[in-house]
Amino acid sequence: MLITSYSMPFTVGFVLAMAFVVAQAQQMQSSIRLGSSLTPTTNSSWLSRSGVYAFGFYKQGNGYAVGIFLAGIPQTTIVWTAKRDDPPLSTNVTLDFTSGGFSLKPTQGQSFVIEYTSGSSASMLDSGNFVIYNARQDIVWQSFEHPTDTLLPGQILFAEKELFSAKSESDHSTGIFRLKMQGDGNLVQYPVNTPDTAQYAYYSSGTYGGGKNVTLNFAADGHLYLLNDTSSNIKNITNGGLPADQATIYLMRIDADGIFRLYSHDLNPNGSWSMVWESSNDKCDPKGVCGLNSYCVLLDLEAECRCLPGFVSANQRNKTSGCSRNLVADGCEHKNETLKYTMEELESTTWEDISYVDLTLSDKEACKRACLEDCNCEAALFDDTSCKKQRLPLRYGRRQVSTSNVALIKVAKSTTIPDTNRIVEKGSKRKGRTVILIISLSLAAFGSILFAISVIVLCKHNVWAYKRVNTPIRDSELNEDIALRPYTYEELEKITNNFTEEVGRGASGTVYKGVILASQKPVAVKRLEKVAAEGEKEFQNELKVIGKTHHKNLVRLLGYCLDGPKRLLVYEYMSNGSLADVLFAPDRQPCWEERMRIARNIARGFLYLHEECDTQIIHCDIKPQNILMDEYMCPKISDFGLAKLLKADQTRTTTGIRGTKGYVAPEWHRKMPITVKADVYSFGIVLLEIICCRRNVDWSLPEEEAVLDELAYPCFESGELGKLVGEQEVDTRQFERMIKVALWCVQDEPSLRPSMKKVLLMLEGTVEIPIPPSPNSILSTI
Ligand SMILES: *[C@@H]1O[C@H](CO)[C@@H](O)[C@H](O)[C@H]1NC(C)=O
Ligand SMILES: *[C@@H]1O[C@H](CO)[C@@H](O)[C@H](O)[C@H]1NC(C)=O
Ligand SMILES: *[C@@H]1O[C@H](CO)[C@@H](O)[C@H](O)[C@H]1NC(C)=O
Ligand SMILES: *[C@@H]1O[C@H](CO)[C@@H](O)[C@H](O)[C@H]1NC(C)=O
Ligand SMILES: *[C@@H]1O[C@H](CO)[C@@H](O)[C@H](O)[C@H]1NC(C)=O
Ligand SMILES: *[C@@H]1O[C@H](CO)[C@@H](O)[C@H](O)[C@H]1NC(C)=O
Ligand SMILES: *[C@@H]1O[C@H](CO)[C@@H](O)[C@H](O)[C@H]1NC(C)=O
Ligand SMILES: *[C@@H]1O[C@H](CO)[C@@H](O)[C@H](O)[C@H]1NC(C)=O
Repeated sequence: MLITSYSMPFTVGFVLAMAFVVAQAQQMQSSIRLGSSLTPTTNSSWLSRSGVYAFGFYKQGNGYAVGIFLAGIPQTTIVWTAKRDDPPLSTNVTLDFTSGGFSLKPTQGQSFVIEYTSGSSASMLDSGNFVIYNARQDIVWQSFEHPTDTLLPGQILFAEKELFSAKSESDHSTGIFRLKMQGDGNLVQYPVNTPDTAQYAYYSSGTYGGGKNVTLNFAADGHLYLLNDTSSNIKNITNGGLPADQATIYLMRIDADGIFRLYSHDLNPNGSWSMVWESSNDKCDPKGVCGLNSYCVLLDLEAECRCLPGFVSANQRNKTSGCSRNLVADGCEHKNETLKYTMEELESTTWEDISYVDLTLSDKEACKRACLEDCNCEAALFDDTSCKKQRLPLRYGRRQVSTSNVALIKVAKSTTIPDTNRIVEKGSKRKGRTVILIISLSLAAFGSILFAISVIVLCKHNVWAYKRVNTPIRDSELNEDIALRPYTYEELEKITNNFTEEVGRGASGTVYKGVILASQKPVAVKRLEKVAAEGEKEFQNELKVIGKTHHKNLVRLLGYCLDGPKRLLVYEYMSNGSLADVLFAPDRQPCWEERMRIARNIARGFLYLHEECDTQIIHCDIKPQNILMDEYMCPKISDFGLAKLLKADQTRTTTGIRGTKGYVAPEWHRKMPITVKADVYSFGIVLLEIICCRRNVDWSLPEEEAVLDELAYPCFESGELGKLVGEQEVDTRQFERMIKVALWCVQDEPSLRPSMKKVLLMLEGTVEIPIPPSPNSILSTI
């Protein structure tokens, strides 16, 4: 599938000759009076005083549209369109300026192009702003407050407002990308029709938490920057410092390809548009640039969309129309499809992770087998540690040299239908493919060597670090059914040898070790105490929700027992105890790199619970004792979903030491609604403990140092991080970054805390971390 090129910054909206005809029909007029009118062919627009901007009709498709455009340059450039999604207008319409709005005669579809109350004059200003005044000369409407895809110097994008790209360079109706100035201070790009959550974002200014009323501003020198409530500059998007004179025009636009760019144009007769800045130079970045079941590949800096193996393009000329399977798949009857299908590989390729099962596997062949043996599985993403099974359709696919992901696609073994993609690729594209393949393979090889070296160097004191190299394939995981197994109380008595070996005790119940007799597989059996008096049905429904969660950083629930008032849960057994055992035992403390890996994995588990599983799960009781370590020291979150199963007061009694904050978010004490942000708070406390290798509350220390989360901000603010580091040897820069992440998480105000997705991005070091405010600053000022 080929893509039209976006290499020319602007295409001429209509032929040059036409521009001159139109120019003759334009009127230089600074004040437009009621009753004035325009038609597409004669008196077609009103110019600003300088003649640079015009308001009126311009050619669109096979008709006309009403908008604002740059008339003073040879390449007529549209900066605003009225009712951009309406069909083009025919030549016999008239645009009338009346006191209640600009209306069209004869009406086509709808009559009003712009509506307002009590207009009495209008003006096309030299700034590019078209304004309408009432009799008292107050502005009742202005185009600057209704941006489409473009901002001009002086124009402000207010909080909660967004720009939408155009469909193409010549079609100014709403396209498929947006740029939003969010109410949380972040300026973010998303595809259209997605929620404002990090998983869909493809650009962010990194100013989350910058305030509730942050605005995007555009200065005359091309400087784009964010201001907060108190007009403090919180971030420069572009540096500016360009000539700020009458002879240069700037504009910022989210282009049809999803990237937002700053352009400049000289007003001299030979001037042309040039691109000054762009939000990304990777045209595959915008999510959705390629349609369903296709993936984006950069070739000579241009985005090309390709179909997945076994798929054909729905429309060769339209890259967003996507691809569909070139054969009809028969219904899923839980058959073993090993003989009929095979898995094709695409190196370094990813797409939106909407996996329904996430297996811990370190062998690609095992991942292929797992998908072939599951007729629900149509594709899988394999990344050396996990195998994510997915169903169609796949979105936001792209090749990314930096990722180690391998995409596996299920295709029929004998395809008789020719694969049109490959025919196209055999010609000119082949060379580029080989080069990319070689580069990605060598990068991958280089990356693996680097990784191996760093693991060995950084963790040479930790024996279990070597163990991971030979992670065995656990075949049992391939066959494990999604359904939970019900157990009788007698069975569990046998499994646990009459509840003899107690391995843990918590607020929700006591945990015993047991062994499944048939498979000799160790399990943990939890006997719940203080179970909510709800009926069996609710209990089972809740269990179904928990039972459906599959993530490598969550402890698997295997079965349950419902016997009269008795409620027991059977989990996979974790041989290395809990994070608390690892972190607070001086002889077992992992090295810094290992601890960061653990923190990232815990964050992944919570991200899954909060955003990625079918039903959102709030844990409500995050603490190191509830994070278990498997034999490879991979952390797994346990006890999730229990909040709903236990009596209401049960989830609120985890403060541990009275009078200190412990792990519980402040909103618990304030009877505020509990959201996922309560978990983010508790995660922040655990993160502090992981970073500093000590308990949050430790009365064996001097009183002023006893509570870590009260100590962290003052130390961070005064630059005395040494007090927190203790005796560890760490890179101070990394240490400071992690403290910043933790301080964002433990903000008293839940809305200031980042989402788990954002936390993970910060932990991974892929986004900038703004300076956190004092955790209780907001409340202390109320
Ligand atoms: C254009 O508008 C002006 C005043 O608004 C009017 O005098 C003139 O006749 C119009 N020209 C045409 C061709 O309609
Ligand atoms: C003029 O407008 C009418 C609708 O009012 C429409 O039916 C007709 O086709 C238009 N004429 C042209 C030449 O576009
Ligand atoms: C946000 O700030 C702008 C200008 O600074 C102001 O006009 C607007 O009323 C503010 N909005 C809110 C909700 O505070
Ligand atoms: C705006 O930003 C400045 C500087 O970062 C900060 O001091 C001020 O508190 C912020 N104001 C608000 C209301 O967030
Ligand atoms: C933004 O840039 C201006 C200079 O153009 C500089 O004075 C200012 O400090 C910068 N602000 C930030 C937050 O970087
Ligand atoms: C524009 O181009 C013409 C011919 O290419 C040249 O003679 C003239 O000096 C140029 N003008 C400016 C302002 O660069
Ligand atoms: C391309 O295809 C998509 C989906 O089928 C459709 O929504 C869009 O309008 C098409 N774009 C163009 C330029 O035809
Ligand atoms: C599926 O079939 C293959 C080949 O016949 C066999 O090796 C494999 O064990 C089967 N898997 C299951 C789960 O039946």
